[in-house]
Amino acid sequence: MPEAVAGLHCAASVQRPQLNLSPDDLVRAYRAGELPWTLHPACDFESDPGQWGASLINDAEITLAALEVAGVRSVVEIGAYAGDVTRVLLDWGRERGAKVVAIDPSPQPELVRLAAERPELTLIEATSHDALPDLGPKDAYVIDGDHNYYTVSRELELIADMAGPDALPLLLFHDVSWPHGRRDDYFSPQLVPDDYRQPTTEGGGLFPGVPKTTSGGLPYKWPAATEGGPRNGVLTAVEDFVSSHDGLRLAVIPAFFGLGVVWRTDAPYADELARLLDPLDRHPLVARLEANRVYHLASVHVQLMEVAAARERIARQEAVLTRLLGSSAFFLAERLSRLRHRLGIGRESPIVSRELLRETLNHN
Ligand SMILES: C[S@@+](CC[C@H](N)C(=O)[O-])C[C@H]1O[C@@H](n2cnc3c(N)ncnc32)[C@H](O)[C@@H]1O
Repeated sequence: MPEAVAGLHCAASVQRPQLNLSPDDLVRAYRAGELPWTLHPACDFESDPGQWGASLINDAEITLAALEVAGVRSVVEIGAYAGDVTRVLLDWGRERGAKVVAIDPSPQPELVRLAAERPELTLIEATSHDALPDLGPKDAYVIDGDHNYYTVSRELELIADMAGPDALPLLLFHDVSWPHGRRDDYFSPQLVPDDYRQPTTEGGGLFPGVPKTTSGGLPYKWPAATEGGPRNGVLTAVEDFVSSHDGLRLAVIPAFFGLGVVWRTDAPYADELARLLDPLDRHPLVARLEANRVYHLASVHVQLMEVAAARERIARQEAVLTRLLGSSAFFLAERLSRLRHRLGIGRESPIVSRELLRETLNHN
């Protein structure tokens, strides 16, 4: 990796303060959405309140190094959300005179503000399929919009048509690993033709290694009901595109939901890019770290669902006990319980008394 690029973000990571919170503080912070670490220091906290590490910014060092090696001077980000990656691209491009285009049908206010502040950024508020044909060819595309087979395949067709047969630009993709590598997700299912759209489970939870959706797990709005199979997922779309064109290479860096890179093997930068990416391409250690990360991330969501269900159950039980406490029926039951105790019946268990009920309610 070129040294200048390697140092760009790592230095800031090292300077981040380390906060050691007690478990109680940690739980409180989590509930308030205030966990004290953000996975990538340049990723604004508000953009990642659940600390998923969802932004491609977490793969920024590799992304920028690839752009650098390929001599990119114009880059399109498809799906820019709050502009975390966009800002990094702009900062990287400043000294290089590189232009950045962000395409997003629903940009967050931070991204809209960024576009107003930075004239070298063009923000197009439209879907990729509507925006791409009018753009003209660019040096690189960072594809991170609607994570499904149809949308990504059509984006690739449009980019390839614009570039012409021998000039496919550098392509970078987010979400080529779990959960969207082999499973579609739809921002707007109605934009995807019926024969491409997978059956979906609205609000379905996803858990690594579980092909169906679950009631806990990472929550998505419109995930495919089942993982795998043809025409399902971002990685499947990228692989199908690569295998239907001669002379393309795909590398997969399996970190932070997966970064895919596709380039022409006859591009002038092809060998240097291969030298950069080969050591990380599908590296089993990185893949294990990511598998471990998403397992625990999804587990937290399962536990949150269980805690929420337990809280509701406790609230219902408390309501019943509180009613019981003031009822004349319980007054009689308590007297009966004391009488039985005095007569030596059931002495091994405590008298069912109002004190016991109050104590139990206080404990909750
Ligand atoms: C995962 S976010 C992008 C995150 C951003 N690239 C980052 O890494 O910080 C996906 C974005 O894609 C946008 N989007 C959804 N459908 C799209 C489409 N058809 N074309 C372009 N963008 C789309 C959404 O509005 C959302 O802001």
